[in-house]
Amino acid sequence: MKDINQFTITQAVKDSFKTEPGSRFESLLHGLVEHLHDFTREQNVTHEEWMGVLNFLYDCGKISTPERHEFILLSDVLGWSSLVDMINTKGGATEGSNLGPFYLDNAPVKQLGGNLADDRDGVTVLVHGKVSNTLHHPLPGATIDTWQADATGTYPIQEVEQDKYDLRGKFTCDENGRYYYTTVLPKPYTVPYDGPVGVLLRAGTRHAWRAPHMHFIVTAPGMAGITTEIFFKNTEYLDNDAVFGVRQSLIADLKPAKDIDKLGYTLDKKPDAVIEFDFVLAPEG
Ligand code: BEZ
Ligand code: FE
Repeated sequence: MKDINQFTITQAVKDSFKTEPGSRFESLLHGLVEHLHDFTREQNVTHEEWMGVLNFLYDCGKISTPERHEFILLSDVLGWSSLVDMINTKGGATEGSNLGPFYLDNAPVKQLGGNLADDRDGVTVLVHGKVSNTLHHPLPGATIDTWQADATGTYPIQEVEQDKYDLRGKFTCDENGRYYYTTVLPKPYTVPYDGPVGVLLRAGTRHAWRAPHMHFIVTAPGMAGITTEIFFKNTEYLDNDAVFGVRQSLIADLKPAKDIDKLGYTLDKKPDAVIEFDFVLAPEG
């Protein structure tokens, strides 16, 4: 019988899985075992600490529902989601950022120039720009799927008395790859902190606030789609967003709405301010 000790156990666990040599699955599994074992040895993890982590994960599972995925939130506050976004951003393309939990894949189709916010209170902003490839050629027909919180920091989907499809819409860019619509400027809001992830944030003396932002999924035929967010200069929590979603390249200027007639857009609502942001998509593959 092989004598397993605290150093040989790592190889023994790896050998116990009969994985396809050189496969991606084998690489991920072996890497996970190695890092988990190394971490445990380095930290001299005690039984109480080990059980504390397992109970924490159990609690994350217990509070999760189809609408509330506490493990994704855990990944978000640990910066893991953002790290995966950063690693997978393609060269020259707009940087990726958090999808978050409030995306709906069947957002209403809206016309360019439409208003996402109906008569909601808040600062009305024109959001516009172009979608191009990495060679700066516009991508006519690119689609922009956007969703956001309102001027109190609430997503309509969080409120039973609101229509969950409010403040979201899908737009098709015009022949010049341009998109434009009006909406309200969103305020900061907190990620859910009434569960185990909230316990973790409090244990680390961290807040749960997100910098105000708008979410986007931008796609075009033959191009790799991007999931990202736009943030706004001089707003709160840019430096300490609870889910590490802010990147310098994703912070847009908020300018007063003057001279917008020159843009030649037909808008359903007159904006108070303007945000311009161009998206860049890299080829698929
Ligand atoms: C959001 O941006 O909507 C979000 C992202 C991560 C966790 C919770 C909310
Ligand atoms: Fe969000």
